[in-house]
Amino acid sequence: MPAVAILTISDRSSRGERPDLSGPALIEEVTRLGWQVADYSIVADDAEKIKAYLIEWCDKHVVQMILTTGGTGFAPRDVTPEATLAVIERSAPGLAEYMRMKSFEKTPHAMLSRAVAGIRKATLIVNLPGSPKAAVENFNFVSPVLPHAFQLLA
Ligand code: MTE
Repeated sequence: MPAVAILTISDRSSRGERPDLSGPALIEEVTRLGWQVADYSIVADDAEKIKAYLIEWCDKHVVQMILTTGGTGFAPRDVTPEATLAVIERSAPGLAEYMRMKSFEKTPHAMLSRAVAGIRKATLIVNLPGSPKAAVENFNFVSPVLPHAFQLLA
């Protein structure tokens, strides 16, 4: 059974000013597939803090995938793609390309997602947008190919 870690990236949710709805929505989707959620945290839009979570979770070798939600847009504090690019060893652009392509059928705002995906050690990191709806939509676009990706990474 694949194990997944989920990182919600939001200044306001990390300060407790807004409930995190995206993390729990992704937990529900991942669980629905029969996969295990091994870790879940909320962190501020701070590249160093984001990198620390990604490195720790990848290097422990217990999760096949990290899903991040939030911080992929154009706001000055949106640094999730940069933090992800700083820690991955190999990029996996097809996942982000497909998510943007399919999302564009739903909203032209898909063009404003700067989400990236890549591999560090044996863990795949996938950025998802911040709203619960967008995070779940994007995850469901790529989830059918993920079991094969996990096989290849093992
Ligand atoms: N993708 C899907 N499938 N559905 C959406 O509603 N919202 C977009 C985009 N991708 C959206 C989507 C919007 S409005 C933005 S600003 C970007 O994702 C980035 O979102 P983030 O800044 O919350 O990460």
